[in-house]
Amino acid sequence: MDRILITGALGQLGVEFIKYFKKYNLFVLATDVRNPKKKLNCTFENADVLDKNRIDSLVKKYDINIIYHLVAILSANGEKNPFNSWKLNMDSFQNIAEIAVENRIKKVFWPSSIAVFGTESKLELVTQNPLMNPSTIYGITKLAGEKLIDYYFKRFGLDIRSLRFPGIISTETQPGGGTTDYIIEMLNAAKKENDYCCFLSENTELPMMFIDDAIESAIKLMSVNRADLSISGSYNVTGFSITPNQLISEIQSNGFKTSVNFKPDFRQQIADSWPKKIDDSVSRNDWGWKPKFRLKESIEIALK
Ligand code: SER
Repeated sequence: MDRILITGALGQLGVEFIKYFKKYNLFVLATDVRNPKKKLNCTFENADVLDKNRIDSLVKKYDINIIYHLVAILSANGEKNPFNSWKLNMDSFQNIAEIAVENRIKKVFWPSSIAVFGTESKLELVTQNPLMNPSTIYGITKLAGEKLIDYYFKRFGLDIRSLRFPGIISTETQPGGGTTDYIIEMLNAAKKENDYCCFLSENTELPMMFIDDAIESAIKLMSVNRADLSISGSYNVTGFSITPNQLISEIQSNGFKTSVNFKPDFRQQIADSWPKKIDDSVSRNDWGWKPKFRLKESIEIALK
């Protein structure tokens, strides 16, 4: 039986993973440095993933054999304190890798990001393995993690699996400090009939994915035989691509009024170094990835 530890469990992805696993009655230990505002449907421990001994003792106490390591400082927040971002993103990754090796953890899931790409990555349609020179500290930590996944697999047989998530559209929990966050902010403003000031320009195209697809893709990747995976790093995945202008049209065609003005800030430069579209054919071929939620459906559900 899988006994799952989720770190960063109160974040955008974590709460959705908890819901998913509880549907199948799996044991979940959720950890976070914050405390839950409402009661979680699983075991919770307040724990800092930088405290390796504490996480290690929890892994032993609860007999954990699978880890979803979701802790990270995202792209925009990362730029505000790059030293701290490197420390949190990388030290937590290293702690989990060491704990996983020492405790013979079966599999680890760790999200990477479209932030690993850079302006030399042929951004119109980014393939699995282009030139990668990320411009943000967040992207650099994700690319470093991808390299370590490959290294630890060859060195220790540690099975870490990873997806390069685009912006994730969730309805329950908000992201925090990312460059793709505008999409959720604009959707929420439309629902509340509030004005919205968009920090990216009208025609900035970025890849996105609906939350249910993000969860499904990770679960699917974690369930296949390692031998079927041609990549021991991180896989491209995407749902669809959208610009702020297209989002406004979609919001309006769902009967909502929008009042959006544009004031691009430092996040524009980050977005300009990220893919417009993602080629996820290697994921489709290796482990049968296929998104269920396309643009119209995702926006329609998010507006409910
Ligand atoms: N959503 C993330 C961000 O905007 C990208 O992985 O930082």
